[in-house]
Amino acid sequence: MDFKKIMVAGSGVLGSQIAFQSAFFGYDVSVYDINDEAIGKGKQRITKLRKVYADFFKDEEKADAAMGRLTYSTDLAEATKGVDLVIEAVPERVDIKQDFYQKLGAVASEQTVFVSNSSTMLPSQFAEFTGRPDKFLALHFANSIWQNNTAEIMGHPGTDQLYVEQVTDFARSIGMIPFVLKKEQPGYILNTLLVPFLNAGLTLWAKDIADPHTIDKNWMISTGSPRGPFGILDVVGMETPYNLNKARAELDPAYGVIADKLKSEMIDQGKMGIATGEGFYKYPNPAYSDPNFLKQN
Ligand SMILES: NC(=O)c1ccc[n+]([C@@H]2O[C@H](COP(=O)([O-])OP(=O)(O)OC[C@H]3O[C@@H](n4cnc5c(N)ncnc54)[C@H](O)[C@@H]3O)[C@@H](O)[C@H]2O)c1
Repeated sequence: MDFKKIMVAGSGVLGSQIAFQSAFFGYDVSVYDINDEAIGKGKQRITKLRKVYADFFKDEEKADAAMGRLTYSTDLAEATKGVDLVIEAVPERVDIKQDFYQKLGAVASEQTVFVSNSSTMLPSQFAEFTGRPDKFLALHFANSIWQNNTAEIMGHPGTDQLYVEQVTDFARSIGMIPFVLKKEQPGYILNTLLVPFLNAGLTLWAKDIADPHTIDKNWMISTGSPRGPFGILDVVGMETPYNLNKARAELDPAYGVIADKLKSEMIDQGKMGIATGEGFYKYPNPAYSDPNFLKQN
């Protein structure tokens, strides 16, 4: 069965992008959020995305047509009507997601497939709450999905392979490059690689072994990479690494040192990364993009 109508639950940063991407590639999309205020904000985000897509794909007409395929609702039963695939992008909290899946499972048609966009959790944490564990898996997008177009697809042991294939086809049909994981893995492929890498850079900085630009320069010259860990951290922003290290501080105080340094030297100074124009580098012309950056030390 091909998916025709999609519902996206949660119209925040990622939900709004997933909704627009799906509508842009021809799907009817119903967008669900918890109340009028939240759905109003979601609508604003989606309206702003119209221009981003029109510019990126150089296609005003297609972007306008996408706007016409989107509907909005705060009523879960209404939003789910006639929907083949639900993409969940609600906040990254186990209690919120479990509660959401329980309510969704009660109103959605038996045939409807559910996927989660969770970055850090596993499908097996929610499968039983959905009432259809065989039709439940993860479909994980990256922020700015129109250009960072990876889709990580990951079932739990009870997912039926048929739906892994259907979701993979769906991901391709909306312009994604799918990566199907053979087993559950926290952080999928990308974050399994990226999170320890970024934290290794932060550790060198927190222990005052070397400064961020020196660390990046070493990495970039040695490996030929276009950015080092601190250039990447400016893209990610300071909030996520701060929260992650803060949460781990109880396990090992070294994480607390990283969190404190990120807070006092970056967050408290408004240096949040590219989003605020300054992080470990100043934008729009970060030092690492200057060809001379790599020619000397
Ligand atoms: N932000 C990212 O870069 C990113 C990247 C990949 C995946 N994700 C994942 O996407 C999911 C959402 O993240 P986000 O950054 O878009 O969050 P967000 O806070 O921007 O948006 C969450 C949305 O969910 C809504 N919401 C809250 N409770 C709800 C409920 N019970 N039912 C329906 N909607 C509800 C909120 O009103 C809000 O609109 C998370 O699982 C996160 O791990 C985020």
